[in-house]
Amino acid sequence: MSDDKLPANHAEGHGDVAAADNPFADPGLPAHEVRRTDIDERAAKRAERQVSLLFIVSMLATVGFIASYVAIDPTRIVYIFPLGHISAMNFALGMTLAVALFCIGAGAVHWARTLMSDVEHPAERHPIEADDEVRADVIEQFKTGAAESAFGRRKMIRNTLIGSMALVPLSGVMLLRDLGPLPEKSLDSTAWSEATPSMPIQLINMNTNEAMKPEDIQVGSLTFARPGPSALRPNGLQESDEDFQQQIAKDALMIVRIQPEDIKDPNSAALGFQGVLVYSKICTHVGCPISLYEQQTHHALCPCHQSTFDLADGARVIFGPAGHPLPQLKISTDSLGYLVATGDFSHPVGPSFWERSQ
Ligand code: FES
Repeated sequence: MSDDKLPANHAEGHGDVAAADNPFADPGLPAHEVRRTDIDERAAKRAERQVSLLFIVSMLATVGFIASYVAIDPTRIVYIFPLGHISAMNFALGMTLAVALFCIGAGAVHWARTLMSDVEHPAERHPIEADDEVRADVIEQFKTGAAESAFGRRKMIRNTLIGSMALVPLSGVMLLRDLGPLPEKSLDSTAWSEATPSMPIQLINMNTNEAMKPEDIQVGSLTFARPGPSALRPNGLQESDEDFQQQIAKDALMIVRIQPEDIKDPNSAALGFQGVLVYSKICTHVGCPISLYEQQTHHALCPCHQSTFDLADGARVIFGPAGHPLPQLKISTDSLGYLVATGDFSHPVGPSFWERSQ
């Protein structure tokens, strides 16, 4: 750009004049310095290739991120100096994502410093509402800026920038895979689904690993339970299995004892035994384990988002985001007096937002 097109303060070195008149005056902008790439097309081409190379490296790093996510064993540990022993996958994901983002940033900075116009266009103060002349000027400046950025003319930069910007979000999309598959119908049946009056399933105390009798459950206490061995064998599941706890997670129970006259819902009382009521421990909001019980009010509280269920009233939701009551299990006692389930849950356990329409 020639000096006659530059703003007055650029062309004249305005800052020096102002400083001489008044040491506290606006120092203005420094005079424009012509860069090599402004006058040498070969230097400009070289800068263009450098910028494109950075964007290409960004694209390759994003591909490397995806490949690392798919190919590296998540349990593999490697020694990296000076970090020590760390997950190979985490290291690879961190490095590739860092390179991908850094190269986009570095490419953009290098592009701006070497090829885009570095002439400032100061905007004079004007009334808030711009008149037609100002608007036309803004549009003209925008077009000038677009032309000077060479976004349309330098196709290699434009294409590689678009490519790197388009690929980088794929890193985030890949991580969605960690959310795992939707549970879909898997919550419709639990180990308790097999329970019938003729083939009851024992309730096992999770703390003592022993069967319980109704008299073991005190009024005001909260006991957690899981299915007994008779429920596990049909699935081929054994207590010694490595993923035993994971397999029985959706079977977890919460047992309370309420004075029969305090139970408000007759249907709930009928599913229980002498005031012993058994509910799913999994919150019906998004599935946190419920662990807090207030014995005076019979309220169970989910610690995640404070959904509160009235266990004396069929585990009705009285507060919070949960959409429906906790499922209740039908129980009785076996010939030896131990608590057993004689039927399935009243409705599927866990959160329901993807499948509760039927
Ligand atoms: S998971 Fe229980 S309230 Fe959200």
